[in-house]
Amino acid sequence: MPLPAVRLAADLPAAPVVAVPTRPGEGGAQLCGALAVEGLDAARLVSAESAKGEPGELVAAPGPGGAAPERVLLVGVGSASPADLRKAGAALARRAKDADSLAIDLRSLEVDGSGLRALAEGLLLASYSYSLKREPKERALSTVTLVGPTLQADLDTAICVVRATAAARDLVNTPSLRKTPDWLAEAARALLTGLSVTVRDEKELARRGFGGIVAVGQGSTRPPRLIEAVYDGGGSRHVVLVGKGITFDTGGLSLKPTEGMLAMKTDMGGAAAVLATLRAVADLALPLKVTVLAAAAENMPSGTAQRPGDVLTQYGGRTVEVLNTDAEGRLVLADALAYADRELAPDVLVNVATLTGAMPVALGRRYAGMFASSDELARQLERASAASGEPLWRMPLVEDYRAALDSPIADLRNIGAPRLKLQGGSITAALFLREFTGGRPWAHLDIAGPARSGADEDELTKGGTGYGVRLLTAWLTALAAEPAAHTSRLRRSA
Ligand code: BES
Ligand code: MN
Ligand code: ZN
Repeated sequence: MPLPAVRLAADLPAAPVVAVPTRPGEGGAQLCGALAVEGLDAARLVSAESAKGEPGELVAAPGPGGAAPERVLLVGVGSASPADLRKAGAALARRAKDADSLAIDLRSLEVDGSGLRALAEGLLLASYSYSLKREPKERALSTVTLVGPTLQADLDTAICVVRATAAARDLVNTPSLRKTPDWLAEAARALLTGLSVTVRDEKELARRGFGGIVAVGQGSTRPPRLIEAVYDGGGSRHVVLVGKGITFDTGGLSLKPTEGMLAMKTDMGGAAAVLATLRAVADLALPLKVTVLAAAAENMPSGTAQRPGDVLTQYGGRTVEVLNTDAEGRLVLADALAYADRELAPDVLVNVATLTGAMPVALGRRYAGMFASSDELARQLERASAASGEPLWRMPLVEDYRAALDSPIADLRNIGAPRLKLQGGSITAALFLREFTGGRPWAHLDIAGPARSGADEDELTKGGTGYGVRLLTAWLTALAAEPAAHTSRLRRSA
């Protein structure tokens, strides 16, 4: 389903649905500006519905007939902050989805660039749908007119970021019957037309020592791939983004139970996020160099699968004792991180992964956990999170837990020693990854919670959310705007 077209206009066009913002005031919702629809008593409507003007609140009324709109929607915008406008946009898109077009009268609401971006993002992200039905029933708006603001560049940015997010959602929502590692590689090529995309197949991965990706992928008849894509917008900084691309995670021989496997087509949400971010960064022509590595494999049990107790050699030579084949994400990521560190000379490394079931246990389904070796990088990502509306919370890299990854026969083991049981599982996973970052400024986003949503909620839609695209694009946009000397301030500090 195509996303609605969004345009700006100075005057209210003839549209079947017109929305007018309301804000909280004494005694209930206050209309922002005059309702330009004659014969409709907005004040009575607000009090009859006890509307409060809270973000996303909707009061609908039929238009009075004649040339007037068929429907008027009073939409609460709360404080009119970007977060509240994002909610309002999402609520409007859902309520108006049967209408062909919607006009939103913003003339009495002083929205700035970030407010307009948030409103447009909410509208567009909530309009996303994915369906493999023979006859898709879902309807979405075709045109939205934002009346008042003259902020075309901000609108264009929002559209670009939403397109990329929708692309990530499509990748995540694709069932794994179709979505093999090779399919993901071809989808990356299609998404990233105009950019350099290199795909390493299983033979090349084995030849070059990517032992983690090979081991995780060897149980499947559908072999692994390492996708490397580069955008070079100039500038002196090089950012490497790494994504976990497990196209289906059965757990391998350490098989997951039915329930735990149900959502595992989404275990490539990290790869989807970094690939789609690169699309957005290229479309925005940011003055940075960004390399994306997506480590793609299908984790299957079979006669060729890796066994608990096997020892593999990661890229760069470290050996890892695999005690649980379901802790596979860190094995594919370790190869990609080590490759980035040793071959790509990045100024900063960020990886994104649906890494641990323990992460949503700690933070719930909306927040990602962020682990960072640099306080400055953590602050940058926190700022980008607040601006983009993709929430995260910084987690500690607890040095005392590092010993739980010691193995008697290899350099590392892939799960925390039983002493820790599975407690702190997100932290030991992060500590495992850190071993492969060569002391560079690095952050790890564990998106096991927010990569998918259980329901249509605010700007999210049920299924893949594309979490990370908005956050990373906001971060890279801010980074690109800073003087180059700044990246050198990134220090490993934790
Ligand atoms: N892909 C899972 C993590 C996951 C779980 C993501 C639930 C989204 C929802 C990951 O590969 C995994 O299986 N992790 C194990 C690690 C354990 C074996 C140390 C986990 O979290 O149980
Ligand atoms: Mn797993
Ligand atoms: Zn996994």
